[in-house]
Amino acid sequence: MSPTSSTPDPGGLIAAQRQHWEATLQANPHMYGTEPSEAGRDASSRFSVENLSKVLELGAGQGRDTLSLLGAGLDVTALDYAARPLAGIRDSARDAGLGGRLTTLTHDVRQPLPFADASFDACYSHMLFTMALTSDELAALAGEVHRVLRPGGLCIYTVRHVGDAHYGAGRDLGDNLYENGGFVVHFFDRPLVDRLAEGFSLEDVTAFEEGGLPRRLWRITMRRP
Ligand SMILES: C[S@@+](CC[C@H](N)C(=O)[O-])C[C@H]1O[C@@H](n2cnc3c(N)ncnc32)[C@H](O)[C@@H]1O
Repeated sequence: MSPTSSTPDPGGLIAAQRQHWEATLQANPHMYGTEPSEAGRDASSRFSVENLSKVLELGAGQGRDTLSLLGAGLDVTALDYAARPLAGIRDSARDAGLGGRLTTLTHDVRQPLPFADASFDACYSHMLFTMALTSDELAALAGEVHRVLRPGGLCIYTVRHVGDAHYGAGRDLGDNLYENGGFVVHFFDRPLVDRLAEGFSLEDVTAFEEGGLPRRLWRITMRRP
């Protein structure tokens, strides 16, 4: 990654995140558990209610929500820059008889998404936007999501926000990015949510919590007009 001038990268922390995620997910096969997240369950039912079929999942990790989306009858393209967990998702989907509707792709979202314009009905992303991505990189990613969604398509993503207990803890990298325990997290404020919604219709921002810490998150729903 090329950090912006406002986001220095002391010790190459941001650049090392991909390797850090690969190693962490490898060492913790069920890092976030095997059950779907609340956000994943909600997105699966919302997409089903709207009769959407082609879903792009960004930052699929070990696939706890990928399996839920597949189980809801959706066609899922699961993307992550950690390659080995994606192989695990393929195995789980195949074992569950759901592999026929799954595509996986190893890709870094700091690069343009390798999909045609208007090729998805929906985009789902649980805690990818809140990773080591600068505000400018996030704005570029939101633009890419807009491009690959068809008109009327829905984007649901979740992020940790500035009300999170960890906000301000650890090493301050600028641009609301903090390193804590080796992980770099971008804590969102409302102006960033609004910036990423440019060109979309922002339908909803809901606060929720996850895990024992707990992580304090926003679930953001926006639609390509
Ligand atoms: C907090 S985990 C969430 C995983 C999954 N969505 C879940 O909730 O179980 C974030 C995921 O984003 C991936 N990730 C982080 N930065 C990325 C990037 N620049 N491009 C693609 N994937 C990235 C990590 O490898 C990791 O799997």
